[in-house]
Amino acid sequence: MVAWDSVQYLRFERERTQASHDLVRRIALAAPRTIVDLGCGPGNSTRVLRERWPAARVLAVDSSAEMLETARSTDTGVDWEQGDIASWTPAAPVDLVFSNAALQWLPHHDHLVRNVWSHVGSGGALAFQVPAPGLQRERWAGALRAVLGRPGWEGIASGYRPPENVLSSEGYYDLLSPTAGRVDLWDTEYLHVLPGVTAVVEWVKGTALRPILARLPGDGDRRRFLSDLEEELALIYLPRPDGRVLFPFLRRFVIAYRP
Ligand SMILES: C[S@@+](CC[C@H](N)C(=O)[O-])C[C@H]1O[C@@H](n2cnc3c(N)ncnc32)[C@H](O)[C@@H]1O
Repeated sequence: MVAWDSVQYLRFERERTQASHDLVRRIALAAPRTIVDLGCGPGNSTRVLRERWPAARVLAVDSSAEMLETARSTDTGVDWEQGDIASWTPAAPVDLVFSNAALQWLPHHDHLVRNVWSHVGSGGALAFQVPAPGLQRERWAGALRAVLGRPGWEGIASGYRPPENVLSSEGYYDLLSPTAGRVDLWDTEYLHVLPGVTAVVEWVKGTALRPILARLPGDGDRRRFLSDLEEELALIYLPRPDGRVLFPFLRRFVIAYRP
């Protein structure tokens, strides 16, 4: 797998952090004393949590040393910890377990979500956001398939299946509602205004495309692959009169409150 690159990821910091703002705004906890940010990345989601609850003790967990290095340089008031969300266990129950745009990288959400929910203390909450399958995903997968069908790239993705880890809202509700006092769920489709189709390629380069790029041996191959992908994406994301493109992105939000 290509390592996470915080610089590439943060090229779209404002757009990528919007969902954290929207999720944090809707969490109905007045003053959580302890918060954990699972899959904190370069610390952008953690910053949103710190701004809303400056008095809370915040722990932020990520498996990427590179992401954590960037995160550490942004805030010394957070406990940054390298670890795997799948096995992370707190010493004591946490008031708010939060995760933005990270759980989709882990499989078996039925087990995973039950596990992270089990770390929430009485009166606390679990709040997470994950990219959801939708039209945008289908279009993007179609463009990728078209590139992989071009001469030279046929074998690149053999055996690779994009992770389909995210459950339906009903799936999350059924997991959490038996032990939650209340569950709030919603999907939002963001329409990111990007400077052009090259920016769409740059966006996916920092996230969804990483597993494919990891299979390309050299920089030249990667550049050619990305250029082919841009040609396919240009057929989907047509420029508006000002030259910009609208990049739709569906995101699924869940907040569960423990009585
Ligand atoms: C898309 S970034 C999200 C960063 C940030 N939370 C945000 O809101 O933009 C996903 C992060 O999840 C982390 N991640 C992926 N799988 C993980 C795992 N199993 N354990 C811990 N972190 C993981 C990656 O290292 C990456 O930093």
